[in-house]
Amino acid sequence: MPAVVVVGAQWGDEGKGKVVDLFTQHADIVVRYQGGNNAGHTLVVDGHKTVLHLIPSGVLHPGKVCVIGNGVVVDPAVLLSEIDELRQRGFLREDSLLKISDRANVIMPYHRAIDVARERLRGEGRIGTTGRGIGPTYEDKMARIGIRFADFLDDTTFSDALQRTLKEKNAYLRSMLKEKALDFDAIHSEYRGYRARLAPYVTDTTTYLHNALRQSQRVLLEGAQGTMLDVDHGTYPFVTSSNTAAGGACTGTGIAPRDLSAVIGIVKAYTTRVGSGPFPTELTDAVGEKLRQDGDEFGATTGRPRRCGWFDAVVVRNAVRLNGMSGLALTKLDVLTGFETIRICTAYEFAGRRVQDFPASNSVLNGLTPVYEDWPGWHEPLQGARSLADLPANARAYVRRLEEVTETPMIMVSVGAGRNQTILLRNPFE
Ligand code: IMP
Repeated sequence: MPAVVVVGAQWGDEGKGKVVDLFTQHADIVVRYQGGNNAGHTLVVDGHKTVLHLIPSGVLHPGKVCVIGNGVVVDPAVLLSEIDELRQRGFLREDSLLKISDRANVIMPYHRAIDVARERLRGEGRIGTTGRGIGPTYEDKMARIGIRFADFLDDTTFSDALQRTLKEKNAYLRSMLKEKALDFDAIHSEYRGYRARLAPYVTDTTTYLHNALRQSQRVLLEGAQGTMLDVDHGTYPFVTSSNTAAGGACTGTGIAPRDLSAVIGIVKAYTTRVGSGPFPTELTDAVGEKLRQDGDEFGATTGRPRRCGWFDAVVVRNAVRLNGMSGLALTKLDVLTGFETIRICTAYEFAGRRVQDFPASNSVLNGLTPVYEDWPGWHEPLQGARSLADLPANARAYVRRLEEVTETPMIMVSVGAGRNQTILLRNPFE
């Protein structure tokens, strides 16, 4: 029963979209298990760029089934515009190729309004959310006042739930957040339109996946964001509101832990993060700016410049253990061309002591000094490399060192955004 999970090992934006697109050739079904349209997965196929926010990154492979699992929070308007765009381009020709869990929660206009207003009020202390209503939707899920697709499809249940919840949300929006109240009729009629169009895709995806695994179909589980944004294991409170780590793949789909066959971590050859929060290897100088420009490090969802820094092996080792990663896919190695020296953070120092594991305390995190080792860079462009032997010796040595410091083998090295700009070392399903 092969089910492979793909998880970001850093703060998201590691290039999961490209890796999932590539691995999809070996899979039958691709599933998103958490997050929502805070994610932006960029795929470049035959020179054409596609940015996906909700639909799994396997959608560009004709005939593969894409599933939005119960752990995802879905903004219906965003999903519909993604479906429309993909349909126009000849993908998702049949409704049966996309399945939305009847247990997934729906993002409502008050979730977005609360997300944006709270961030505004937080000022300097803001989390730097994407403003898509992700956190408030997960809050309602846990508070047991969320609206799931199964209930959204039934007008009486939906109307009752909306009426009840909106009363509470409007009071909060008005008195605490100094925002305007939202109108029941406007939301109700807007969402009725979405319901009619999304209903054909809504199904019990948990049972569908159980049956598929029983029939030995190969399932690829696509994480969004990264391990360091996990609500339990990340840099809390500067995290997203879901379990991004591999455990979330089980709760977010209903697939049992024993049915997961492998977890593959995606790591960028350096580190980036969007939004606020600790980032021990951040570079705020010209080197960081070169990484940002050469790596085109601007958010796929919000366009915000990403914060950039050297590879942090403490972060990745932590992710390897938390997720049980058996292999890593290294992305954006080509961006490091042209640096005289490339640094790898192998540990931190705090108050004169060596720190090998990622600390929980924000005050410790803010006072850490990274311990670096320096590696010689290279000047040759890498985009044409299709095997490790094609890489300059210094790039090969860097990759080998990353395997050592993360204690995990590379199964793939990406040297450009294109599907073919890849050195594939192992099929993740084997
Ligand atoms: P939220 O998920 O919109 O609530 O944002 C919480 C934090 O997660 C913010 O720092 C965001 O910038 C970050 N975040 C959310 N989604 C992504 C993503 O797909 N890539 C990178 N960072 C993300």
